Amino acid sequence: MTINSVPPMVRDVSLEHWDPSPCVLGIGEECPRLSWRIESNDGFKQSSYEVKTSRDGVTSTKRYDTSNQVLTEWPSTPLQSRDKVTVQVRAFDAADKQWTLWSDPVTVEAGLLNPEDWTSRFIAPEKATNVGAMDCPAPLFSKEFELPGEPVAARLYMTAHGVFDAAVNGKTVVESVLDPGWTSYRHRLRYRTFDVTDALYEGSNDLTVLLGDGWWRGHLKWEKRRAFYGDRLALCAQLEVEFSDGSGLVINSDESWSVRNSALKTNSLYHGSTIDLRDCPPSASGLTIREKLLRVNENPACGVEIVDKATGELVAPDGPPIIPTGSLSAQKIWRSPSGKLLVDFGQNAVGWVRLAVREIPEGSRVTVHHAEVLEHGELGVRPLRSAKAVDEYVIDGKNEQTLEPEFTLHGFRYAQVDGVKDLHPKDICMVLAGTGMRRIGGFSCSDERLNRLFENVVWGTRSNFVDIPTDCPQRDERLGWTGDIQVFSPTALYLFNVSGLLESWLKDLAAEQYPDGGVPHVIPEPDAGEIDPPACAWGDAAVIVPWNVYQATGDTEMLRRQINSMIAWVDCMDNLAGDSHLWRGGFQFGDWLDPTAPPDQPDAAKANPDVVATGCFARCTEIVSQALYVIGDNHRASHYSRLAASIRQAFRNAFVSPDGTIVSDAQTVYALAIKWGLLENDYLIKLAGKRLSDLVREDGWHIATGFVGTPIICDALTMTGHMQDAWKLLTQEECPSWLYPVTMGATTIWERWDSMLPDGSINPGEMTSFNHYALGAVAEWMIHHLAGLRSTAPGWQQVEVRPTYFADLQYAKTYHDSAYGRIMVSWHREGELVDMDVSIPEGVQAQVHLADGTCRKVEQGIHHWQTRIDGIIETGK
Ligand code: BGC
Repeated sequence: MTINSVPPMVRDVSLEHWDPSPCVLGIGEECPRLSWRIESNDGFKQSSYEVKTSRDGVTSTKRYDTSNQVLTEWPSTPLQSRDKVTVQVRAFDAADKQWTLWSDPVTVEAGLLNPEDWTSRFIAPEKATNVGAMDCPAPLFSKEFELPGEPVAARLYMTAHGVFDAAVNGKTVVESVLDPGWTSYRHRLRYRTFDVTDALYEGSNDLTVLLGDGWWRGHLKWEKRRAFYGDRLALCAQLEVEFSDGSGLVINSDESWSVRNSALKTNSLYHGSTIDLRDCPPSASGLTIREKLLRVNENPACGVEIVDKATGELVAPDGPPIIPTGSLSAQKIWRSPSGKLLVDFGQNAVGWVRLAVREIPEGSRVTVHHAEVLEHGELGVRPLRSAKAVDEYVIDGKNEQTLEPEFTLHGFRYAQVDGVKDLHPKDICMVLAGTGMRRIGGFSCSDERLNRLFENVVWGTRSNFVDIPTDCPQRDERLGWTGDIQVFSPTALYLFNVSGLLESWLKDLAAEQYPDGGVPHVIPEPDAGEIDPPACAWGDAAVIVPWNVYQATGDTEMLRRQINSMIAWVDCMDNLAGDSHLWRGGFQFGDWLDPTAPPDQPDAAKANPDVVATGCFARCTEIVSQALYVIGDNHRASHYSRLAASIRQAFRNAFVSPDGTIVSDAQTVYALAIKWGLLENDYLIKLAGKRLSDLVREDGWHIATGFVGTPIICDALTMTGHMQDAWKLLTQEECPSWLYPVTMGATTIWERWDSMLPDGSINPGEMTSFNHYALGAVAEWMIHHLAGLRSTAPGWQQVEVRPTYFADLQYAKTYHDSAYGRIMVSWHREGELVDMDVSIPEGVQAQVHLADGTCRKVEQGIHHWQTRIDGIIETGK
């Protein structure tokens, strides 16, 4: 160890894909895997490690002679339900003969791992009463109970048919919202575990739970239908209390509970909520609105009855819940041309409005309408389609109130407030909400327009990871559209820790796949009766998303879990293609939303759908074969590898002419042939690159691709040496382009290139969301080529640093918090001199291509080089 160096440390011990935390409560794995990073500034290299576990007062230590530090084996006997184990890790460097100190302890507690652990039943308001029926106020369940002593530990395990909010002795027990979230309810219903020890006392206590419609009974999809999963809400709660003498008590949801109408008159994810404050108990003044709704009011109590669990397994979460993630203050408050009071929060995002009101007479109504854009100076609500997005409050006339809706979310930047005389900025804010995912990646460069584009991608991610990956957050969809996450997952996985969320979603995908391997277009698919026709690029999510998660995390177990689902989708395509190996005809979304497609025909792309479908088939088959090699199934791997070769051959025979022209001669078909390795030799690749570049130039460097082509076009151009075209495409400002929305003041990525037309009016089509992440997948290219960082081995064990130096860019930087720690690249160019800084954590190897054309291999540490540039890319105006 050198003088002044800090002793090497094991940091951030984490379990599965949960974020590092001193306490992981309610985990669902019997053998959760461990990861950690090593902090050292003197090149410490782990060759062995030890894990110390403390369990039931017994401490034991286990040693492993390996450099693995990510998703390593559970070091103890499998966890049983409720088991609590504390783990600590230390690492050894054999060369230096040095141990790190022990890491901080992490305590993991298992949830309820077996169906028999649930002694509680699902309870619903008695049918005869009408309480909790459709279109009636949200039901408030309550239970009073006595505790013989002060508890030393108490856990509340809870789930619902619907969404829940809960309070123990009047205090909300959770920070999260819309629990238990949305899974494929017919197969997997999530429960959550809460530590309520501090909320309980010796003597009398009460537990209250409010149920909302959520995804279970609320409106879903665009057909204005609701109650896809059932028309009755039901609660399942199990409170387990432990006392100092070792005894315990369990409060189950059963017939002893009561239920009444709450003050939450309506609640809907799409439409908003209505709260009648006059229905909250008088004792509730001074509480938050959430606490008020959870107080037992004066409405008559009714009985409950046991109902069947209308669902498959009860499962523990794989990722974080939906939480309030921050807030935005009002940037501007003004009167619209028609006299409405409007508020601009300066950023299109997801959440709700928190509004303080005073001196409003009893019985008056205050309403908040939401919209992403303004049109003709008023809220532009047409893009919301049938989603009303209105929160309403009936005021009780008592002093000051802070109003917030319950069980709803809106995608908006602007709000219209009715029912108040005037509004002060301090009285209103936007509460941001979404899955509580940790930010792990960023990018910036010397071009402010590109920085805004990148920020728009980040906001699109924050807005559309709401327990599942959604298409959009505002209109009557907000669904797990498979095609969208198929193209966007690499970018999302770079920016945020979404691996737990995606692994959960992939379990849903596998559970909902049809017997022939076909994949519903949205996951979860709420409509049990719906059988979607197979669609390329969308169904590909079954293969591409697990592969991308594997690339980002190195999680082979997840590949093993998903492999049958991956294979099933490829087999489904194989059956459709038959001996020709060409997937022709049938339904396809194709290169969805190609800008030349008419507004009312988003699937009418230039790219031939058979070319796109067969290309996707080849790509997925190749990936399945690689995934099989990874998990050691070489026999099946070689079958799919041969199949992939046959599909590529068939693709070339059917669609590629000897002069290199590909059927339909559209940008997307060249891009996918190049990017997915469908062309057999360098000559054809060169021809395809040349034709792609010609087409891009002929289109004046405007975007001419849809969902399939857009994420890969810059890469295809770069791979074939047409960097300048990629740059000109990326920095085009005229419509259609990535930067056109930026010039129009966009703060998120739009669904269509011209969701808003240059004259400020909203596109007349149906698909006009202003917050769709799919087309933001170009952020990946910015990271790879502008900052120059890419992972070249699963889980970021190896990286390549290789920026392309464009004449118009003076600097670019990026970071990614991999499981090994932060990887950072930053370069700065002054004339011909380029300064390159690279920071690499222990466990990662990097190959750095410097501006002078030389290459260095480096490992852990902070590295700096200054070189003279060889090969700047002129950007040509
Ligand atoms: C969604 C998309 C989706 C598409 C496919 C749209 O309504 O918002 O993003 O992929 O439908 O049809």
